[in-house]
Amino acid sequence: MNEQPTRWVAETSASQQRDQQTQLLAQLSSLTEGESFAISHLSNAASLLWHTLPGLNWVGFYLRRGNELILGPFMGRPACLRIPLGRGVCGTAAALDQVQRVPDVHAFPGHIACDSASNSEIVVPMRQNGQVIAVLDIDSPYLDRFSQEDEAFLTAFADKLCEACDFSQPLITLD
Ligand code: SME
Repeated sequence: MNEQPTRWVAETSASQQRDQQTQLLAQLSSLTEGESFAISHLSNAASLLWHTLPGLNWVGFYLRRGNELILGPFMGRPACLRIPLGRGVCGTAAALDQVQRVPDVHAFPGHIACDSASNSEIVVPMRQNGQVIAVLDIDSPYLDRFSQEDEAFLTAFADKLCEACDFSQPLITLD
């Protein structure tokens, strides 16, 4: 029997959540200090959010490759590899350069279901030199998991992360 998804009810107060967000931004600063390699920073950032924020089933990044997004570092179940710009929640956020905060993914036209457990989702574009270079994608099994406050925090988190990353560095060099 399929159980109906439940709506998210936070177990911590608004002020506790703000403290946690301040702490997460400070942790991100210390984790990125003195290094600019994007893959390392995106990996730690996914882990940091995954192990701190409650009620999630996927946290990760899709990286821009021309007219597509390709899967980057993440925590959660394996996910689809490529998403065309303009498709799904991620492709829409990247194409419009606009946060997509989706209370019920089943009502989002063209939503791409990577994990059938997902019921709500938020996607935050990340920019370098004014261009969308990646997106932060977070899924929850709860309906309406992400508040306006979450959106403001995740936007600040993604901006800070972007500042710490040099996306022009090659992935592998042998010398
Ligand atoms: N749901 C996304 C696809 C990526 S997964 O959620 C990890 C979308 O519609 O773009």
